[in-house]
Amino acid sequence: MSTTVAPDLEFIRSLKTFGGENLKSCYQCATCSVVCPISTDDRPFPRPEMIHAQWGMKDKLLSDPLVWVCHNCRDCSSYCPRGAKPGELLAAVRDYSITHFAWPRGFARLFNDAKYLPLLFAIPVIVLFVSLGIEGHLHIPEGKIVYSKLFPIHLVEYLYIPVTFFGFIAGLMGMRRYWTAISAHRAGETPHRTMVEAAILTGKEILSHTQFRKCSVEGKRYFGHLPMFYGFLGAFATTTMVTLYYYLFGRLTPLPLYDPVKILGNVSAVLLLYGCFRLIARRKEEEPEERNNLPSSYFDWLFLGLLTAVAVTGTLTELTRLSGAAGIAYPTYFIHLSLIFMLLGYMPYSKFAHLFYRTAAMVHEKMYAQEEAAVVLPAPPELPPVEVEEEEEEEVAAPAAAGVGAPAATSPLGGGGSPLGGGGAPPSMFGGSKIGGGAPPTSSLGGGSKIGGGAPPTSPLGGGGGIGGTPPPAPGGGSKIGGSPPPAGGSTIGGSPPPPAGGSKIGGSPPPPPGGSKIGGSPPPPAPGGSKIGGTPPPPAPGGSKIGGTPPAPPRPMFGGVTPKPPAPPAPPAEEEAKEE
Ligand code: HEM
Ligand code: SF4
Ligand code: SF4
Repeated sequence: MSTTVAPDLEFIRSLKTFGGENLKSCYQCATCSVVCPISTDDRPFPRPEMIHAQWGMKDKLLSDPLVWVCHNCRDCSSYCPRGAKPGELLAAVRDYSITHFAWPRGFARLFNDAKYLPLLFAIPVIVLFVSLGIEGHLHIPEGKIVYSKLFPIHLVEYLYIPVTFFGFIAGLMGMRRYWTAISAHRAGETPHRTMVEAAILTGKEILSHTQFRKCSVEGKRYFGHLPMFYGFLGAFATTTMVTLYYYLFGRLTPLPLYDPVKILGNVSAVLLLYGCFRLIARRKEEEPEERNNLPSSYFDWLFLGLLTAVAVTGTLTELTRLSGAAGIAYPTYFIHLSLIFMLLGYMPYSKFAHLFYRTAAMVHEKMYAQEEAAVVLPAPPELPPVEVEEEEEEEVAAPAAAGVGAPAATSPLGGGGSPLGGGGAPPSMFGGSKIGGGAPPTSSLGGGSKIGGGAPPTSPLGGGGGIGGTPPPAPGGGSKIGGSPPPAGGSTIGGSPPPPAGGSKIGGSPPPPPGGSKIGGSPPPPAPGGSKIGGTPPPPAPGGSKIGGTPPAPPRPMFGGVTPKPPAPPAPPAEEEAKEE
Protein backbone atom coordinates (compact mmCIF):
# COMPACT_ATOMS: atom_id res chain seq x y z
CA MET A 1 0.00 0.00 0.00
CA SER A 2 1.47 3.34 -0.93
CA THR A 3 0.94 6.52 1.00
CA THR A 4 1.11 9.89 -0.63
CA VAL A 5 2.61 12.64 1.43
CA ALA A 6 1.79 16.18 0.44
CA PRO A 7 4.38 18.29 2.21
CA ASP A 8 3.12 21.53 3.64
CA LEU A 9 5.90 23.87 2.59
CA GLU A 10 4.49 26.82 4.46
CA PHE A 11 4.59 24.72 7.61
CA ILE A 12 8.24 23.82 7.04
CA ARG A 13 9.07 27.48 6.48
CA SER A 14 7.26 28.47 9.67
CA LEU A 15 9.10 25.86 11.69
CA LYS A 16 12.38 27.20 10.37
CA THR A 17 11.40 30.71 11.39
CA PHE A 18 10.34 29.62 14.86
CA GLY A 19 13.68 27.96 15.61
CA GLY A 20 13.77 24.70 13.67
CA GLU A 21 16.12 26.03 11.00
CA ASN A 22 18.35 22.95 11.13
CA LEU A 23 15.61 20.38 10.74
CA LYS A 24 16.87 19.21 7.36
CA SER A 25 20.19 18.16 8.86
CA CYS A 26 18.65 15.18 10.61
CA TYR A 27 19.69 11.88 9.11
CA GLN A 28 17.76 9.65 11.44
CA CYS A 29 20.51 8.24 13.58
CA ALA A 30 18.13 7.93 16.56
CA THR A 31 20.52 9.35 19.10
CA CYS A 32 17.83 11.76 20.23
CA SER A 33 15.39 8.93 20.89
CA VAL A 34 17.96 7.16 23.01
CA VAL A 35 18.70 10.12 25.25
CA CYS A 36 15.21 11.60 25.51
CA PRO A 37 13.76 11.04 28.98
CA ILE A 38 10.23 10.61 27.65
CA SER A 39 11.09 8.24 24.83
CA THR A 40 10.19 4.59 25.34
CA ASP A 41 11.03 1.44 23.42
CA ASP A 42 7.50 1.29 22.09
CA ARG A 43 7.34 4.93 21.20
CA PRO A 44 10.71 6.33 20.24
CA PHE A 45 10.76 10.09 20.35
CA PRO A 46 11.64 12.48 18.75
CA ARG A 47 13.26 10.77 15.78
CA PRO A 48 9.99 10.03 13.91
CA GLU A 49 8.93 13.61 14.54
CA MET A 50 12.05 14.79 12.73
CA ILE A 51 10.90 12.96 9.59
CA HIS A 52 7.42 14.37 9.94
CA ALA A 53 8.91 17.85 10.16
CA GLN A 54 11.20 17.29 7.18
CA TRP A 55 8.28 16.10 5.13
CA GLY A 56 6.07 18.94 6.27
CA MET A 57 3.50 16.56 7.76
CA LYS A 58 1.75 19.26 9.68
CA ASP A 59 -1.34 17.39 10.84
CA LYS A 60 0.69 14.50 12.13
CA LEU A 61 2.93 16.74 14.18
CA LEU A 62 0.23 19.01 15.52
CA SER A 63 -1.78 16.06 16.76
CA ASP A 64 1.18 14.27 18.28
CA PRO A 65 0.66 14.33 22.06
CA LEU A 66 4.34 13.85 22.82
CA VAL A 67 5.18 17.21 21.26
CA TRP A 68 3.61 18.93 24.27
CA VAL A 69 4.85 16.38 26.77
CA CYS A 70 8.40 17.29 25.75
CA HIS A 71 9.77 19.66 28.36
CA ASN A 72 12.36 21.21 26.11
CA CYS A 73 15.16 19.80 28.24
CA ARG A 74 17.36 19.87 25.12
CA ASP A 75 19.21 16.70 26.02
CA CYS A 76 18.46 15.48 22.50
CA SER A 77 19.86 18.61 20.88
CA SER A 78 23.04 18.36 22.87
CA TYR A 79 23.67 14.82 21.73
CA CYS A 80 22.51 15.18 18.14
CA PRO A 81 25.58 14.56 15.97
CA ARG A 82 24.17 16.67 13.15
CA GLY A 83 23.20 19.78 15.08
CA ALA A 84 19.63 19.26 13.87
CA LYS A 85 18.37 20.61 17.21
CA PRO A 86 15.37 18.33 17.69
CA GLY A 87 14.49 20.01 21.00
CA GLU A 88 14.31 23.42 19.35
CA LEU A 89 12.35 21.97 16.45
CA LEU A 90 9.73 20.65 18.86
CA ALA A 91 9.58 24.04 20.56
CA ALA A 92 8.91 25.50 17.12
CA VAL A 93 6.09 23.00 16.55
CA ARG A 94 4.59 24.00 19.88
CA ASP A 95 4.76 27.68 19.05
CA TYR A 96 3.13 26.97 15.72
CA SER A 97 0.38 24.90 17.31
CA ILE A 98 -0.54 27.69 19.73
CA THR A 99 -1.44 29.83 16.74
CA HIS A 100 -3.01 26.91 14.90
CA PHE A 101 -5.43 25.86 17.64
CA ALA A 102 -6.12 29.34 18.99
CA TRP A 103 -9.52 30.90 18.78
CA PRO A 104 -9.86 33.20 16.87
CA ARG A 105 -6.86 32.12 14.76
CA GLY A 106 -6.57 35.36 12.81
CA PHE A 107 -6.01 37.34 15.99
CA ALA A 108 -3.42 34.80 17.15
CA ARG A 109 -1.23 35.63 14.13
CA LEU A 110 -0.55 39.07 15.64
CA PHE A 111 1.56 37.42 18.28
CA ASN A 112 4.14 36.01 15.92
CA ASP A 113 5.55 39.26 14.68
CA ALA A 114 7.16 42.03 16.72
CA LYS A 115 5.70 44.68 14.45
CA TYR A 116 2.27 44.10 16.02
CA LEU A 117 3.52 44.63 19.57
CA PRO A 118 2.61 48.36 19.66
CA LEU A 119 -0.89 47.45 18.53
CA LEU A 120 -1.20 44.77 21.20
CA PHE A 121 -0.06 47.24 23.84
CA ALA A 122 -2.31 49.98 22.49
CA ILE A 123 -5.49 47.90 22.95
CA PRO A 124 -5.44 47.84 26.79
CA VAL A 125 -4.07 51.39 26.99
CA ILE A 126 -6.98 52.70 24.93
CA VAL A 127 -9.51 50.64 26.89
CA LEU A 128 -8.14 51.94 30.21
CA PHE A 129 -7.98 55.56 29.02
CA VAL A 130 -11.54 55.45 27.73
CA SER A 131 -12.72 53.89 31.00
CA LEU A 132 -10.96 56.57 33.05
CA GLY A 133 -12.47 59.21 30.79
CA ILE A 134 -15.96 57.80 31.37
CA GLU A 135 -15.33 57.85 35.14
CA GLY A 136 -13.94 61.39 34.92
CA HIS A 137 -10.62 60.24 36.42
CA LEU A 138 -8.19 61.44 33.79
CA HIS A 139 -5.92 63.20 36.27
CA ILE A 140 -3.51 62.35 39.10
CA PRO A 141 -5.59 62.20 42.33
CA GLU A 142 -4.72 64.53 45.21
CA GLY A 143 -3.60 63.52 48.71
CA LYS A 144 -2.43 60.14 50.07
CA ILE A 145 -1.76 57.60 47.36
CA VAL A 146 -4.67 55.20 47.13
CA TYR A 147 -4.96 53.50 43.78
CA SER A 148 -8.70 53.10 43.98
CA LYS A 149 -8.92 56.88 43.71
CA LEU A 150 -7.72 56.48 40.13
CA PHE A 151 -9.28 53.14 39.26
CA PRO A 152 -12.31 52.55 41.51
CA ILE A 153 -12.77 48.91 42.54
CA HIS A 154 -15.92 48.44 40.48
CA LEU A 155 -14.08 49.67 37.38
CA VAL A 156 -11.24 47.20 37.90
CA GLU A 157 -13.79 44.43 38.27
CA TYR A 158 -15.86 45.41 35.24
CA LEU A 159 -12.73 45.32 33.15
CA TYR A 160 -10.68 42.48 34.54
CA ILE A 161 -13.28 39.84 35.29
CA PRO A 162 -14.35 39.74 31.59
CA VAL A 163 -10.74 39.94 30.37
CA THR A 164 -9.66 37.03 32.57
CA PHE A 165 -12.81 35.12 31.67
CA PHE A 166 -12.16 35.67 27.97
CA GLY A 167 -8.54 34.50 28.33
CA PHE A 168 -9.62 31.31 30.05
CA ILE A 169 -12.55 30.53 27.79
CA ALA A 170 -10.58 31.15 24.59
CA GLY A 171 -7.71 29.13 26.05
CA LEU A 172 -10.04 26.26 26.87
CA MET A 173 -11.46 26.39 23.34
CA GLY A 174 -7.98 26.03 21.90
CA MET A 175 -7.34 23.23 24.35
CA ARG A 176 -10.51 21.47 23.22
CA ARG A 177 -9.46 21.67 19.58
CA TYR A 178 -6.12 20.27 20.52
CA TRP A 179 -7.70 17.47 22.56
CA THR A 180 -9.83 16.50 19.58
CA ALA A 181 -6.73 16.37 17.39
CA ILE A 182 -4.69 14.21 19.74
CA SER A 183 -7.66 11.94 20.34
CA ALA A 184 -7.97 11.39 16.59
CA HIS A 185 -4.26 10.56 16.55
CA ARG A 186 -4.98 7.77 19.03
CA ALA A 187 -8.22 6.58 17.48
CA GLY A 188 -8.81 2.92 18.26
CA GLU A 189 -6.68 2.91 21.41
CA THR A 190 -8.34 2.19 24.71
CA PRO A 191 -7.56 4.39 27.69
CA HIS A 192 -6.30 2.50 30.71
CA ARG A 193 -7.03 5.33 33.14
CA THR A 194 -10.03 7.56 33.56
CA MET A 195 -9.65 11.24 32.83
CA VAL A 196 -10.07 12.07 36.52
CA GLU A 197 -7.30 9.68 37.56
CA ALA A 198 -5.04 11.03 34.86
CA ALA A 199 -5.85 14.62 35.84
CA ILE A 200 -4.97 13.95 39.48
CA LEU A 201 -1.65 12.41 38.51
CA THR A 202 -0.95 15.31 36.17
CA GLY A 203 -1.80 17.83 38.88
CA LYS A 204 0.66 16.18 41.24
CA GLU A 205 3.32 16.16 38.58
CA ILE A 206 2.81 19.83 37.78
CA LEU A 207 2.83 20.91 41.41
CA SER A 208 6.02 19.00 42.12
CA HIS A 209 7.64 19.90 38.78
CA THR A 210 8.74 16.29 38.35
CA GLN A 211 9.31 16.64 34.62
CA PHE A 212 11.60 19.61 35.09
CA ARG A 213 13.76 17.60 37.40
CA LYS A 214 14.38 15.04 34.68
CA CYS A 215 16.16 17.59 32.52
CA SER A 216 19.92 17.52 32.48
CA VAL A 217 20.96 20.19 29.96
CA GLU A 218 18.16 22.51 31.06
CA GLY A 219 18.29 21.36 34.67
CA LYS A 220 18.67 24.91 35.97
CA ARG A 221 15.29 25.90 34.58
CA TYR A 222 13.64 24.01 37.41
CA PHE A 223 14.96 26.66 39.81
CA GLY A 224 13.39 29.39 37.70
CA HIS A 225 10.05 27.86 36.76
CA LEU A 226 9.24 26.54 40.23
CA PRO A 227 9.43 29.88 42.12
CA MET A 228 7.84 31.67 39.19
CA PHE A 229 4.97 29.17 39.07
CA TYR A 230 4.24 29.46 42.80
CA GLY A 231 4.82 33.22 42.72
CA PHE A 232 2.17 33.52 40.01
CA LEU A 233 -0.30 31.31 41.87
CA GLY A 234 0.35 33.33 45.05
CA ALA A 235 -0.22 36.63 43.25
CA PHE A 236 -3.45 35.28 41.78
CA ALA A 237 -4.59 34.11 45.22
CA THR A 238 -3.70 37.52 46.72
CA THR A 239 -5.87 39.35 44.18
CA THR A 240 -8.76 36.99 44.88
CA MET A 241 -8.43 37.48 48.63
CA VAL A 242 -8.26 41.26 48.34
CA THR A 243 -11.58 41.11 46.48
CA LEU A 244 -13.06 38.87 49.16
CA TYR A 245 -11.77 41.25 51.87
CA TYR A 246 -13.65 44.05 50.18
CA TYR A 247 -16.93 42.22 49.66
CA LEU A 248 -16.99 40.22 52.90
CA PHE A 249 -15.43 42.67 55.35
CA GLY A 250 -15.59 45.96 53.49
CA ARG A 251 -11.82 46.35 53.80
CA LEU A 252 -10.08 48.54 51.26
CA THR A 253 -6.52 48.54 49.98
CA PRO A 254 -3.78 49.41 50.76
CA LEU A 255 -3.47 46.72 53.40
CA PRO A 256 -0.89 47.12 56.16
CA LEU A 257 2.40 45.35 55.56
CA TYR A 258 1.78 42.85 58.39
CA ASP A 259 -1.59 41.68 57.04
CA PRO A 260 -1.42 37.97 56.03
CA VAL A 261 -2.77 38.74 52.57
CA LYS A 262 -0.19 41.50 52.12
CA ILE A 263 2.55 39.14 53.28
CA LEU A 264 1.35 36.54 50.78
CA GLY A 265 1.35 39.19 48.04
CA ASN A 266 4.88 40.33 48.82
CA VAL A 267 6.32 36.83 49.13
CA SER A 268 4.66 35.92 45.82
CA ALA A 269 6.12 39.01 44.15
CA VAL A 270 9.62 38.08 45.31
CA LEU A 271 9.20 34.51 44.04
CA LEU A 272 7.82 35.70 40.73
CA LEU A 273 10.64 38.21 40.24
CA TYR A 274 13.29 35.71 41.22
CA GLY A 275 11.87 33.05 38.89
CA CYS A 276 11.54 35.42 35.96
CA PHE A 277 15.07 36.77 36.29
CA ARG A 278 16.50 33.30 36.57
CA LEU A 279 14.70 32.28 33.40
CA ILE A 280 15.89 35.40 31.61
CA ALA A 281 19.45 34.81 32.82
CA ARG A 282 19.20 31.27 31.49
CA ARG A 283 18.13 32.56 28.10
CA LYS A 284 20.99 35.05 28.01
CA GLU A 285 23.57 32.57 29.20
CA GLU A 286 26.40 31.80 26.83
CA GLU A 287 26.66 28.07 26.40
CA PRO A 288 29.94 26.21 26.15
CA GLU A 289 31.27 26.13 22.62
CA GLU A 290 30.23 22.54 22.03
CA ARG A 291 26.58 23.28 22.68
CA ASN A 292 24.10 25.44 20.86
CA ASN A 293 23.03 28.49 22.76
CA LEU A 294 19.44 28.31 23.87
CA PRO A 295 17.66 29.97 20.96
CA SER A 296 15.08 32.57 21.91
CA SER A 297 12.47 33.68 19.46
CA TYR A 298 10.29 36.76 19.67
CA PHE A 299 7.51 34.45 20.79
CA ASP A 300 9.64 33.24 23.72
CA TRP A 301 10.51 36.76 24.77
CA LEU A 302 6.99 38.10 24.42
CA PHE A 303 5.60 35.93 27.19
CA LEU A 304 8.62 35.87 29.48
CA GLY A 305 9.07 39.61 29.02
CA LEU A 306 5.41 40.31 29.70
CA LEU A 307 5.37 38.25 32.86
CA THR A 308 8.55 39.91 34.09
CA ALA A 309 7.18 43.35 33.27
CA VAL A 310 4.05 42.56 35.29
CA ALA A 311 6.16 41.46 38.25
CA VAL A 312 8.45 44.51 38.03
CA THR A 313 5.70 47.10 37.65
CA GLY A 314 3.69 45.41 40.43
CA THR A 315 6.64 45.75 42.78
CA LEU A 316 7.26 49.35 41.68
CA THR A 317 3.60 50.14 42.23
CA GLU A 318 4.00 49.25 45.90
CA LEU A 319 7.40 50.89 46.33
CA THR A 320 6.39 54.17 44.69
CA ARG A 321 3.24 54.25 46.82
CA LEU A 322 5.30 53.78 49.96
CA SER A 323 7.68 56.52 48.82
CA GLY A 324 4.75 58.92 48.31
CA ALA A 325 5.78 59.90 44.76
CA ALA A 326 2.27 60.22 43.31
CA GLY A 327 3.49 61.50 39.94
CA ILE A 328 5.32 58.21 39.39
CA ALA A 329 3.08 55.87 41.38
CA TYR A 330 -0.17 56.42 39.44
CA PRO A 331 1.35 56.14 35.95
CA THR A 332 3.20 53.00 37.10
CA TYR A 333 -0.08 51.56 38.28
CA PHE A 334 -1.65 52.42 34.92
CA ILE A 335 1.13 50.58 33.06
CA HIS A 336 0.89 47.66 35.48
CA LEU A 337 -2.83 47.30 34.79
CA SER A 338 -2.24 47.50 31.03
CA LEU A 339 0.32 44.70 31.25
CA ILE A 340 -1.97 42.50 33.34
CA PHE A 341 -4.63 43.04 30.72
CA MET A 342 -2.19 41.76 28.09
CA LEU A 343 -0.97 38.83 30.16
CA LEU A 344 -4.43 37.49 30.99
CA GLY A 345 -6.42 38.61 27.95
CA TYR A 346 -3.82 37.37 25.49
CA MET A 347 -3.16 34.16 27.39
CA PRO A 348 -4.43 31.82 24.60
CA TYR A 349 -2.19 33.43 21.96
CA SER A 350 1.11 33.91 23.73
CA LYS A 351 3.36 31.20 25.06
CA PHE A 352 1.28 31.38 28.22
CA ALA A 353 -1.07 29.00 26.40
CA HIS A 354 1.41 26.25 27.24
CA LEU A 355 -0.53 26.01 30.45
CA PHE A 356 -3.53 24.61 28.54
CA TYR A 357 -1.73 22.50 25.96
CA ARG A 358 0.78 20.94 28.29
CA THR A 359 -1.88 20.03 30.79
CA ALA A 360 -4.03 18.46 28.06
CA ALA A 361 -1.11 16.50 26.62
CA MET A 362 -0.02 15.24 30.02
CA VAL A 363 -3.53 14.11 30.96
CA HIS A 364 -3.99 12.42 27.58
CA GLU A 365 -0.67 10.69 27.88
CA LYS A 366 -1.49 9.37 31.32
CA MET A 367 -4.82 8.06 30.08
CA TYR A 368 -3.45 6.23 27.05
CA ALA A 369 0.28 5.61 27.21
CA GLN A 370 1.03 2.00 27.96
CA GLU A 371 4.52 2.55 29.13
CA GLU A 372 5.93 5.41 31.14
CA ALA A 373 9.46 6.33 30.19
CA ALA A 374 11.92 4.90 32.63
CA VAL A 375 13.99 7.49 34.39
CA VAL A 376 16.36 5.52 36.53
CA LEU A 377 17.39 2.39 34.79
CA PRO A 378 18.85 -0.71 36.37
CA ALA A 379 22.21 -1.98 35.23
CA PRO A 380 22.02 -4.32 32.28
CA PRO A 381 21.59 -7.95 33.33
CA GLU A 382 24.66 -10.11 33.35
CA LEU A 383 24.42 -12.61 30.57
CA PRO A 384 25.87 -16.10 30.80
CA PRO A 385 28.89 -16.88 28.67
CA VAL A 386 28.16 -18.70 25.46
CA GLU A 387 30.10 -21.57 24.01
CA VAL A 388 31.91 -20.59 20.87
CA GLU A 389 31.61 -22.95 18.00
CA GLU A 390 34.80 -23.70 16.11
CA GLU A 391 33.32 -22.71 12.83
CA GLU A 392 32.62 -19.31 14.14
CA GLU A 393 36.10 -18.88 15.54
CA GLU A 394 37.51 -19.53 12.13
CA GLU A 395 35.27 -17.00 10.59
CA VAL A 396 36.04 -14.37 13.13
CA ALA A 397 39.62 -13.47 12.69
CA ALA A 398 40.52 -10.71 15.07
CA PRO A 399 40.17 -11.26 18.78
CA ALA A 400 38.50 -7.93 19.17
CA ALA A 401 36.04 -8.78 16.47
CA ALA A 402 35.13 -12.11 17.97
CA GLY A 403 31.45 -12.29 17.58
CA VAL A 404 30.86 -13.65 20.98
CA GLY A 405 30.78 -11.72 24.14
CA ALA A 406 34.03 -9.89 24.18
CA PRO A 407 33.28 -7.27 26.74
CA ALA A 408 35.02 -4.12 25.82
CA ALA A 409 33.25 -1.51 27.77
CA THR A 410 34.61 1.93 27.48
CA SER A 411 32.05 3.43 29.78
CA PRO A 412 33.25 3.63 33.32
CA LEU A 413 29.84 2.43 34.35
CA GLY A 414 29.87 -0.85 32.66
CA GLY A 415 28.91 -2.32 29.42
CA GLY A 416 29.50 -5.85 28.43
CA GLY A 417 29.27 -8.00 25.44
CA SER A 418 26.18 -9.80 24.44
CA PRO A 419 26.69 -13.46 23.83
CA LEU A 420 24.58 -13.14 20.76
CA GLY A 421 25.70 -10.02 19.14
CA GLY A 422 29.42 -10.12 18.98
CA GLY A 423 31.70 -7.22 18.81
CA GLY A 424 31.65 -6.60 22.51
CA ALA A 425 30.04 -3.59 23.95
CA PRO A 426 30.30 -0.84 21.47
CA PRO A 427 31.49 2.27 23.14
CA SER A 428 28.93 4.24 21.28
CA MET A 429 25.48 5.03 22.49
CA PHE A 430 24.25 3.28 19.42
CA GLY A 431 24.86 0.07 21.17
CA GLY A 432 25.08 1.26 24.69
CA SER A 433 22.36 1.55 27.16
CA LYS A 434 21.75 4.79 28.93
CA ILE A 435 23.41 3.56 32.02
CA GLY A 436 26.40 1.40 31.83
CA GLY A 437 26.99 0.76 28.21
CA GLY A 438 25.11 -2.25 27.07
CA ALA A 439 24.70 -5.06 24.77
CA PRO A 440 25.94 -4.90 21.26
CA PRO A 441 23.75 -5.45 18.29
CA THR A 442 22.11 -8.78 18.09
CA SER A 443 21.02 -8.39 14.54
CA SER A 444 22.81 -10.41 11.99
CA LEU A 445 22.85 -7.32 9.90
CA GLY A 446 24.09 -5.18 12.67
CA GLY A 447 27.56 -4.52 13.79
CA GLY A 448 29.80 -7.41 14.45
CA SER A 449 27.41 -10.13 13.49
CA LYS A 450 28.30 -13.75 13.47
CA ILE A 451 27.89 -13.96 9.77
CA GLY A 452 29.50 -10.76 8.93
CA GLY A 453 32.72 -11.16 10.72
CA GLY A 454 32.12 -7.91 12.39
CA ALA A 455 33.89 -4.82 13.26
CA PRO A 456 36.02 -4.71 16.30
CA PRO A 457 34.42 -3.06 19.26
CA THR A 458 36.40 0.04 18.58
CA SER A 459 33.87 0.98 15.96
CA PRO A 460 31.64 3.52 17.50
CA LEU A 461 28.80 2.62 15.28
CA GLY A 462 28.92 -1.05 15.60
CA GLY A 463 30.20 -1.34 12.01
CA GLY A 464 30.76 -4.68 10.48
CA GLY A 465 29.81 -5.70 7.02
CA GLY A 466 27.28 -8.30 6.17
CA ILE A 467 29.63 -10.02 3.83
CA GLY A 468 33.26 -10.33 4.40
CA GLY A 469 34.44 -12.02 7.47
CA THR A 470 37.78 -10.33 7.61
CA PRO A 471 38.13 -7.80 10.29
CA PRO A 472 37.90 -4.38 8.84
CA PRO A 473 41.15 -2.63 8.27
CA ALA A 474 39.91 0.59 9.72
CA PRO A 475 38.79 0.59 13.29
CA GLY A 476 35.67 2.32 12.22
CA GLY A 477 34.23 -0.89 10.88
CA GLY A 478 33.37 -1.65 7.34
CA SER A 479 33.39 -4.93 5.59
CA LYS A 480 35.73 -6.39 3.06
CA ILE A 481 33.32 -5.50 0.35
CA GLY A 482 32.40 -1.89 0.42
CA GLY A 483 34.36 0.73 2.18
CA SER A 484 31.66 2.75 3.78
CA PRO A 485 31.24 1.53 7.28
CA PRO A 486 27.50 1.31 7.40
CA PRO A 487 26.16 1.93 10.81
CA ALA A 488 24.71 -1.35 11.88
CA GLY A 489 21.75 -2.28 9.85
CA GLY A 490 22.68 -0.26 6.83
CA SER A 491 21.59 -1.74 3.61
CA THR A 492 24.02 -2.65 0.92
CA ILE A 493 22.67 -0.31 -1.64
CA GLY A 494 20.76 2.74 -0.91
CA GLY A 495 20.13 2.23 2.73
CA SER A 496 16.50 2.12 3.60
CA PRO A 497 15.47 4.31 6.46
CA PRO A 498 15.49 2.55 9.75
CA PRO A 499 12.30 1.33 11.36
CA PRO A 500 10.90 3.74 13.85
CA ALA A 501 11.84 1.70 16.83
CA GLY A 502 14.37 3.26 19.10
CA GLY A 503 17.12 1.62 21.00
CA SER A 504 16.49 -0.27 24.07
CA LYS A 505 17.43 1.76 27.05
CA ILE A 506 18.39 -1.16 29.18
CA GLY A 507 21.17 -3.03 27.60
CA GLY A 508 19.06 -3.94 24.65
CA SER A 509 19.73 -3.76 21.01
CA PRO A 510 20.97 -0.49 19.80
CA PRO A 511 18.63 1.68 17.85
CA PRO A 512 18.61 1.09 14.16
CA PRO A 513 20.96 3.68 12.83
CA PRO A 514 20.59 5.38 9.54
CA GLY A 515 20.95 3.17 6.61
CA GLY A 516 24.37 3.67 5.23
CA SER A 517 24.63 2.94 1.59
CA LYS A 518 27.65 1.25 0.23
CA ILE A 519 27.26 3.09 -2.98
CA GLY A 520 27.04 6.76 -2.63
CA GLY A 521 26.23 6.57 1.00
CA SER A 522 27.16 9.11 3.55
CA PRO A 523 29.50 8.07 6.23
CA PRO A 524 28.14 7.49 9.66
CA PRO A 525 28.00 10.37 12.07
CA PRO A 526 30.59 10.79 14.69
CA ALA A 527 28.83 8.83 17.33
CA PRO A 528 27.83 10.84 20.29
CA GLY A 529 28.59 10.03 23.87
CA GLY A 530 28.40 6.53 25.11
CA SER A 531 26.92 5.85 28.43
CA LYS A 532 24.71 8.71 29.49
CA ILE A 533 26.23 8.71 32.90
CA GLY A 534 29.92 9.02 32.90
CA GLY A 535 30.55 7.63 29.48
CA THR A 536 33.23 9.09 27.32
CA PRO A 537 32.03 9.83 23.86
CA PRO A 538 33.31 7.39 21.36
CA PRO A 539 35.61 8.21 18.52
CA PRO A 540 34.14 9.37 15.31
CA ALA A 541 33.70 6.66 12.79
CA PRO A 542 36.47 6.96 10.30
CA GLY A 543 36.19 6.15 6.70
CA GLY A 544 33.42 6.91 4.35
CA SER A 545 31.90 5.36 1.37
CA LYS A 546 34.34 4.04 -1.13
CA ILE A 547 32.19 5.05 -4.02
CA GLY A 548 30.86 8.52 -4.08
CA GLY A 549 30.42 8.91 -0.38
CA THR A 550 30.32 12.27 1.27
CA PRO A 551 33.31 12.83 3.47
CA PRO A 552 32.46 12.40 7.09
CA ALA A 553 31.53 15.45 9.09
CA PRO A 554 34.22 16.56 11.49
CA PRO A 555 33.64 15.29 14.98
CA ARG A 556 31.40 17.57 16.93
CA PRO A 557 32.33 18.08 20.54
CA MET A 558 29.63 16.60 22.65
CA PHE A 559 27.65 17.73 25.60
CA GLY A 560 29.78 17.81 28.68
CA GLY A 561 32.75 19.19 26.90
CA VAL A 562 34.29 15.88 25.99
CA THR A 563 35.64 15.86 22.51
CA PRO A 564 35.55 12.57 20.68
CA LYS A 565 38.90 10.85 20.79
CA PRO A 566 40.43 8.96 17.93
CA PRO A 567 39.75 5.25 18.04
CA ALA A 568 42.06 3.00 19.94
CA PRO A 569 44.12 0.66 17.80
CA PRO A 570 43.00 -2.97 17.74
CA ALA A 571 44.24 -4.88 20.77
CA PRO A 572 47.49 -6.82 20.21
CA PRO A 573 47.14 -10.60 20.22
CA ALA A 574 47.34 -12.19 23.64
CA GLU A 575 50.78 -13.40 24.75
CA GLU A 576 49.98 -17.08 24.40
CA GLU A 577 48.68 -16.66 20.90
CA ALA A 578 51.83 -14.77 19.96
CA LYS A 579 53.99 -17.56 21.28
CA GLU A 580 52.05 -20.17 19.35
CA GLU A 581 52.62 -18.21 16.20
C1 HEM B 1 0.01 24.22 33.99
C2 HEM B 1 1.16 23.93 34.32
C3 HEM B 1 2.44 24.34 33.66
C4 HEM B 1 3.32 23.51 33.07
C5 HEM B 1 3.20 22.02 32.88
C6 HEM B 1 4.41 24.30 32.62
C7 HEM B 1 5.51 23.82 31.96
C8 HEM B 1 6.47 24.59 31.36
C9 HEM B 1 7.56 24.10 30.59
C10 HEM B 1 7.85 22.65 30.35
C11 HEM B 1 8.26 25.13 30.14
C12 HEM B 1 9.51 25.10 29.28
C13 HEM B 1 9.07 25.13 27.88
C14 HEM B 1 9.97 25.82 26.96
O1 HEM B 1 10.95 26.43 27.38
O2 HEM B 1 9.66 25.74 25.78
C15 HEM B 1 7.62 26.30 30.62
C16 HEM B 1 8.03 27.55 30.35
C17 HEM B 1 7.52 28.65 30.98
N1 HEM B 1 6.49 28.67 31.87
FE1 HEM B 1 5.35 27.15 32.43
N2 HEM B 1 4.19 25.59 32.94
C18 HEM B 1 2.99 25.67 33.59
C19 HEM B 1 2.39 26.79 34.10
C20 HEM B 1 2.99 28.02 34.11
C21 HEM B 1 2.48 29.17 34.82
C22 HEM B 1 1.22 29.20 35.68
C23 HEM B 1 3.35 30.16 34.58
C24 HEM B 1 3.30 31.53 35.15
C25 HEM B 1 2.67 32.48 34.71
C26 HEM B 1 4.37 29.66 33.70
C27 HEM B 1 5.39 30.40 33.17
C28 HEM B 1 6.33 29.96 32.29
C29 HEM B 1 7.31 30.79 31.65
C30 HEM B 1 7.52 32.27 31.84
C31 HEM B 1 8.04 29.97 30.81
C32 HEM B 1 9.12 30.38 29.83
C33 HEM B 1 10.46 30.05 30.32
C34 HEM B 1 11.48 30.47 29.29
O3 HEM B 1 11.12 31.11 28.31
O4 HEM B 1 12.64 30.17 29.50
N3 HEM B 1 4.14 28.35 33.45
N4 HEM B 1 6.53 25.94 31.38
S1 SF4 C 1 20.00 12.77 16.88
FE1 SF4 C 1 19.97 11.79 14.87
S2 SF4 C 1 17.78 11.32 14.52
FE2 SF4 C 1 17.87 12.78 16.19
S3 SF4 C 1 17.68 14.77 15.19
FE3 SF4 C 1 19.86 14.39 15.34
S4 SF4 C 1 20.40 13.42 13.40
FE4 SF4 C 1 18.17 13.30 13.60
S1 SF4 D 1 13.91 18.33 24.51
FE1 SF4 D 1 14.13 16.73 26.07
S2 SF4 D 1 12.06 15.93 26.32
FE2 SF4 D 1 12.08 17.09 24.42
S3 SF4 D 1 12.52 15.60 22.83
FE3 SF4 D 1 14.47 16.47 23.44
S4 SF4 D 1 15.26 15.10 25.02
FE4 SF4 D 1 13.06 14.66 24.77
